[in-house]
Amino acid sequence: CRLVVLISGRGSNLQAIIDAVRAGQVPAEIAAVVSNRPDAAGLSRAREAGLPVEAVDHRAYASREEFDRALQERIDRHRPDLVVLAGFLRILGTRFIEHYEGRLVNIHPSLLPAFPGLDTHARALAAGVRRHGASVHFVTNEVDCGPLIVQASVPVLPGDTPASLAERVLSEEHRIYPLAIRWFAEGRLSIKDGRVLLDGAR
Ligand code: GRF
Repeated sequence: CRLVVLISGRGSNLQAIIDAVRAGQVPAEIAAVVSNRPDAAGLSRAREAGLPVEAVDHRAYASREEFDRALQERIDRHRPDLVVLAGFLRILGTRFIEHYEGRLVNIHPSLLPAFPGLDTHARALAAGVRRHGASVHFVTNEVDCGPLIVQASVPVLPGDTPASLAERVLSEEHRIYPLAIRWFAEGRLSIKDGRVLLDGAR
């Protein structure tokens, strides 16, 4: 299973995926790491791991459509079976999303459908929820929505700040994203009536 991982920043989820692939926990290879920011810290992680890296700087394109087209062209050179959004901070257009239908996944730092969008940890604290977490989902044309593959939840603790809560959620992200990719790579995921089905162990 060939993966192309898209990032915009720190790349800690990318690192978790690199580590899981190396440890033999995910039967896949990372064909390339692509960032819309040439200075993303995650690109250094990819280089250190000896992976091909590409930057497609969104600022060089006049419109989102042109950026999406350039990005798609760059991704497809690597013939991915699965495109993995790992902290990729650009909204993608309909044509791009449809092109990768059923093979584009994202991780979002909340228990979707709660708290789509930005600043999820601060919003979860403000709402006074007792549990918070992260979700891996197939990408469809709704932002931070689409058929859920796996979620992990953590408690919200007294005295939590957005940063302390984010850290607790992030360590779960690092566990569930490789797991979801493993299921995909093993051919165990399918979508039926907008819901994800997970086949038994192989
Ligand atoms: C993660 O919290 C992820 O859920 C969100 O953006 C953050 C990316 O972190 N989409 P990193 O770049 O993987 O460290």
